[in-house]
Amino acid sequence: MSSLQLQGVWKVFGRHTAVRNVHLSVAEGEMVVLVGPSGCGKTTTLRIVAGLETVSAGTVSISGRDVTRLPPGRRNIGMVFQSYALYPHMSVYRNLMFGAQIRHEPKREAQERAQDVARVLEIDQLLDRRPAQLSGGQRQRVALGRVLMRRPDLFLLDEPLSNLDAALRTEVRGELIRLHRRLEATMIYVTHDQVEAMTMADRIGVMSHGILMQLGSPEELYEAPRNIFVAGFLGSPKINTFSGRVEVAGNGPLFRLQGGWLPVPPSWRSLIEALANDQQVTLGVRPEDWRSASPSADEGIAGVVDIVEPLGGETIVTVTADASSIRWRVGGRSELSAGTSVRLTAPAHRLYLFDARTGDALATPAGQVAHAPTAPRPDLEEGPAPDTEEPTVRDGDRVRELET
Ligand SMILES: Nc1ncnc2c1ncn2[C@@H]1O[C@H](COP(=O)(O)OP(=O)(O)OP(=O)(O)O)[C@@H](O)[C@H]1O
Ligand SMILES: [Mg+2]
Repeated sequence: MSSLQLQGVWKVFGRHTAVRNVHLSVAEGEMVVLVGPSGCGKTTTLRIVAGLETVSAGTVSISGRDVTRLPPGRRNIGMVFQSYALYPHMSVYRNLMFGAQIRHEPKREAQERAQDVARVLEIDQLLDRRPAQLSGGQRQRVALGRVLMRRPDLFLLDEPLSNLDAALRTEVRGELIRLHRRLEATMIYVTHDQVEAMTMADRIGVMSHGILMQLGSPEELYEAPRNIFVAGFLGSPKINTFSGRVEVAGNGPLFRLQGGWLPVPPSWRSLIEALANDQQVTLGVRPEDWRSASPSADEGIAGVVDIVEPLGGETIVTVTADASSIRWRVGGRSELSAGTSVRLTAPAHRLYLFDARTGDALATPAGQVAHAPTAPRPDLEEGPAPDTEEPTVRDGDRVRELET
C-alpha cells in the first residue's frame, strides 16, 4: 500500500481556481474522506492524484516518489467514478476482465482473480449480465470490482454511494469499511454525506472554494472546528448560531443575545477581556447540547415550540425564539407539542465561540484557540497562472487510461 502527499497543489482553469494551495498527506492504510459543498474542488483533487488532470503548481508524491508528471496508467491508482463508468456493451465478467486484458496479464490468473473479486462483492451470480440489467448497488459493486482487479496501491472513490437508496447505502458503506480493513488499503473517499464521512474516515478533510479548510479526525473536526464553516458542515441538524456579545457580568462571563443570555465558561474571561469592547461574536450550540431550563430561570433563551419531528430514536424540535429558529435534538420521544413555551440553556463547556467577522473559532468544547496573526492564509496567497497545457486525458478516455 502507498502513502500520498500533495504539496502546495493548485489547479487553475482559466479564471477559475478549483484547487488552492492544498497540502495533504495520507498515510499508508489510511482512509481520508473529503467533504465540502458542490464545486469546492473535491473531484478535481482526486483527478489530480490520479493524473487525469495536470497541476498548475505543486507536487504529487506517492510513497515518497514524485509522480506529478507521471501518466495515470503508471501510478497504480484505482478510481471509482461517481457515474460507475462501466462499459455498457460488455458483461459484468468482461467489465472485470477488461483492464487485465489490455494490460496483457496472464489470462488464467486474471480469471481466478475475477472469480475471487466477484465472490467477495457478491456479484458472482451476475457475471453474464450487462450493466443496464443491474441495480444501482450492483453496478456500484461491479465498479468497485474493476478497481479491485487492478490491485491498486491507492483507491480513489468519488461519491461512490450517492445514487443508492438509504438501505443499500448503509449496506455498501459497511462493505467498504470491511474492505478497507481487510485490504489495509489507502483510500481517499469523496462524499456529500456527512454521516458517511463521520463513520468511515480516519481523518476528514473539509474543503471550501478549493481550500482544504481543516483536516483531522471526525472527533477533532466536531469538537474543535477551526472555523464556523467546518462547525456548520459536520453535524445534523446543523450547529445553531447566534450573533451577540460576550461580557463579564456580576456572576461571571456570559453571552448576551437578543432575548436572553447564556453563561459561558469562566475560563473565557481573559479571552473576553482581549476582545474589543463592541466586537460582535457568534455563539454556536450543537442541537444535542440544549437543556431545558426552568421557565422562571433567569438564564437561557425563551422560545415557543414550532415543529416536532419524531424520528424514532430521537426527536428534532424546532423552537422559535426572539430572532432565531433553534434546532434541538431530544433523545427518544418528546412530550413537547407545537405552541409550548420552553426555555433553553446549554452547558457552558459545550459552547463554541467564533469571530463574527472572519468566522474563525475563538473557543470550542476542546478549548480556546490561539490565533497566530502570522499564520499562513492559503486563501490569500497568490496563485499560479492558469494552465495552458491541454489536459493529459480527455474525459471519455479516463477509465481506459487508468487501466493501461
Ligand atoms: N475542466 C474544467 N474546466 C473549467 N472548470 C472546471 C473544470 N473542471 C472543474 N471545474 C470547476 O472547478 C470547480 C471544482 O470542481 P469539482 O468538480 O472539483 O467540484 P466538486 O467539489 O467535485 O463538486 P461536486 O460535489 O458537485 O462534485 C468547479 O467550480 C468546476 O466548475
Ligand atoms: Mg465532484
